[in-house]
Amino acid sequence: MKAPASDILKDTQRILEIIHKEDLAADDKGWIQEMTRSGYENFINPGILEYRKAVSTDYTSIEWADSANSFMDINGKKYIDFLGGFGVFNMGHRHPKVVSTVISQLKRQALHSQELLEPFRAMLAKLVADITPGDLQYSFFGNSGTEAMEGAMKLAMLHTGRKSFVAAVGAFHGKTLGALSATARAKFRQPFLPILPDCYHVPYGDADFIESALKCADTVGNDIAAVILEPIQGEGGINVPPDDYLARVRDLCDRYGALLIIDEIQTGMGRTGKMFCVDHWGVIPDILCLGKALGGGVMPIGAFVAPKNIWEHLFPEPWLHSTTFGGNPLACVAAIAGIHVLLDEKLPERADKMGGSMMLKLKALRRRFPKLCVDVRGKGLMMGIEFPSDEIGYEVSKGLFDSGVLVAGTLFHAKTLRIEPPLTISQQEMDQALGIMEKVFKEVNAKHFEPKKIPVRR
Ligand SMILES: Cc1ncc(COP(=O)(O)O)c(C=O)c1O
Repeated sequence: MKAPASDILKDTQRILEIIHKEDLAADDKGWIQEMTRSGYENFINPGILEYRKAVSTDYTSIEWADSANSFMDINGKKYIDFLGGFGVFNMGHRHPKVVSTVISQLKRQALHSQELLEPFRAMLAKLVADITPGDLQYSFFGNSGTEAMEGAMKLAMLHTGRKSFVAAVGAFHGKTLGALSATARAKFRQPFLPILPDCYHVPYGDADFIESALKCADTVGNDIAAVILEPIQGEGGINVPPDDYLARVRDLCDRYGALLIIDEIQTGMGRTGKMFCVDHWGVIPDILCLGKALGGGVMPIGAFVAPKNIWEHLFPEPWLHSTTFGGNPLACVAAIAGIHVLLDEKLPERADKMGGSMMLKLKALRRRFPKLCVDVRGKGLMMGIEFPSDEIGYEVSKGLFDSGVLVAGTLFHAKTLRIEPPLTISQQEMDQALGIMEKVFKEVNAKHFEPKKIPVRR
């Protein structure tokens, strides 16, 4: 141990007291701020503090509480959540039904024995089969999106006996080594190459490129196990493909004997105005990956789902893929409550309606500020606003943050800000955030695109 046990006990005692407090005293706040800053500096990564400096003038702001469609920092400043945890908070923050379900389960049992059968894992798997399209039926539950991708890729290899993959430029599927092979940003991949050596990337949104990749691989005997796609690219910049894209890719996969893995980790659970984004086009994947909002905005959980004829490869050897915490009771009951809330409150329909009216308002803003705002695009409540450069994207997100609205760029660049509020967002919160956005657009536009007024000498 690097510190005496008595010091560690003192620290942990203070932290536990703080966690149990309803209201923080001023010296608690100061202590938390200092512990947080020095913790990032010395024990997490000082680079994160530097990054916050770039996106916010108050880069030491510390999040402390959240509820419904907003969260609060430690000083009590409230932010409207227009980011939604990159697709985590579809049901809002700490939805009361999800929270009370998790608390009740916690009072009975938190984690599983690892040996007996778990009721809520089984019930969740049935519900996932019920809400997913086509013959998707069997689920494996992990703890994150990237784990879901790992499992999906392994299952595709098992089913096809092939080892290669096709993914898209601009794709983001996670950062563990298998998923990273399909992820498409050089900066994330290069230090770790060759990862999975036979993962080819083609431009997104044009099925001809997929066809040519499948054809070439077929010709040279390097057959493709699966084509991996997001139905709308999130981190790549909220890229919506043409309406016939996924149906054509589905067809091509069937023709070339490759599976279609669809990553709905960000687009799923109602985000784009349907339960799953593929439902817009009636396309049924061979393997569907879920994460983020699957946990009801309260617990971490991811899943990959496939039909019986594909899952059968795991029947004789279920332990070919396993994880200690995946499918734990707390995460499963949170997911069950989340699915209940999505259907009960008709959140996919709400995303469609609110997203439609918001898109009209964003397009009106774009017409007013054509030099500042290059494009707005998206589906449901998954929208992107593009600016001419990363710097201007940063400036707008900083302005919004300072005025109490959280947005963020994508992992590929900051010039596209994404708007992914909870699907429970109210009209009043949306109007308030849009009013703030208009103010920030005016300020940034005046700074960069309006001629400076030269004072007239008399
Ligand atoms: C489309 C998509 N796939 C996979 C992932 C990885 O999920 P996780 O960060 O939970 O591993 C993400 C995360 O942003 C994502 O947006």
